[in-house]
Amino acid sequence: MLHLACSTPARWLPSVLPHLDTVLLDHAHCEKKAASTVISLIFRYQEYPEMMGLLSEVAREELEHFEQVLELLGRRGIRFRALPPSPYAKRLSAHARSTEPEQLLDRLLCCSLIEARSCERMKLLAEGLDELELREFYEGLLVSEARHHHFYVELAQRYFDREVVQRRLQELALAEGEIVAVGSEEPRMHS
Ligand SMILES: [Fe+2]
Ligand SMILES: [Fe+2]
Repeated sequence: MLHLACSTPARWLPSVLPHLDTVLLDHAHCEKKAASTVISLIFRYQEYPEMMGLLSEVAREELEHFEQVLELLGRRGIRFRALPPSPYAKRLSAHARSTEPEQLLDRLLCCSLIEARSCERMKLLAEGLDELELREFYEGLLVSEARHHHFYVELAQRYFDREVVQRRLQELALAEGEIVAVGSEEPRMHS
């Protein structure tokens, strides 16, 4: 079960399907960003040595996803290039508190919610696309993203009371839901 407060608005899929190349390119950037966020946690939280190996493993998986999307782009003749991201992740991260240890909890739970939303959107793509190659691609990836969603929640529960984690997860999920409801103009994985 994903801890999302609301489903993606029905307008999202039809708004991105005509811009599939851009969405695939954005997806590559999302995987790269996911890897870099995990690595930033490794740098920031070295006083939690038992997290290091676990985070490193996830970073490696995200880089593998990045490579898989790059290959897909290559097969489709889409050239990798810079692309301004949707404001989604930045808007969500703004809800993280700035003092420790609350910041650690919030950063882990924001990661968890981003993974959950990615998983939900990949499911929509897997169901909504005509091409078998893309459907299978997203069906394969969304399983990992669902696992990552749970990974971050479970990691938070190692260091914080279960109740504290659940309460904060609900609060951040509501904030995430509001961000998704507003959406953004450009066609993106998280628009
Ligand atoms: Fe990923
Ligand atoms: Fe992930």
